[in-house]
Amino acid sequence: MLKIAVLISGSGSNLQAIIDAVAGGVVQAEIRGVLSNRADAYGLTRAQQQGLPTAVIAHGDYPDREAFDQAMIRQLDSWGIDLVVLAGFMRILTPGFVQHFEGRLLNIHPSLLPKYKGLHTHRRALEAGDSEHGCSVHFVSAELDGGPVIAQARVPVHPDDTEAGLTERVHKSEHLLYPRVIGWLADGSLEYGNGQPRFEGRPLAQPLQFVFDH
Ligand code: GAR
Repeated sequence: MLKIAVLISGSGSNLQAIIDAVAGGVVQAEIRGVLSNRADAYGLTRAQQQGLPTAVIAHGDYPDREAFDQAMIRQLDSWGIDLVVLAGFMRILTPGFVQHFEGRLLNIHPSLLPKYKGLHTHRRALEAGDSEHGCSVHFVSAELDGGPVIAQARVPVHPDDTEAGLTERVHKSEHLLYPRVIGWLADGSLEYGNGQPRFEGRPLAQPLQFVFDH
């Protein structure tokens, strides 16, 4: 059984989607803990409602990123996990943290990477007049929102779209895409070696593409 920890900073709607997929038996994994850098993250309440262990490691309590990341490593290692799932975790990670979990560290980002790394991705896609937007799940490298992309869900942009409306539709796709990718790691279809994802035994040359009907 794949043992995972989920890192959050906020609402945790992706965490909820993962909790639901695990509880429903769709993903064969065990959530060993939920870690937040913010004590007021609503995702902590979601985790507690499910009876999951939680931890708060507040970045402001540490003198620098290295010390903060080392504290997170200690907590995560104590949970004995196979995979760290970043789900709206809004801190930049140090190379030491990324190296420690190399190949065991996933992120979801609300854009079709390599487009729109960083923040305000939905607004930037609208301002650019893009006809499609979406989200990406990737293994994490030391570069911000970098690392090999595993899968993307494409979301059409409507002519009259608002930032709120587009954000909501991308979020719905995130909730379908992220559990699916975790499920592949859990059932062995997805592996990572020598800096490269392998899917169903072959190197993944291009991210897998999805369009969800919702
Ligand atoms: C999600 O849209 C996720 O893609 C984004 O934060 C949101 C968290 O929502 N992550 C990033 O921007 C990371 N660069 P949630 O707390 O409701 O899951």
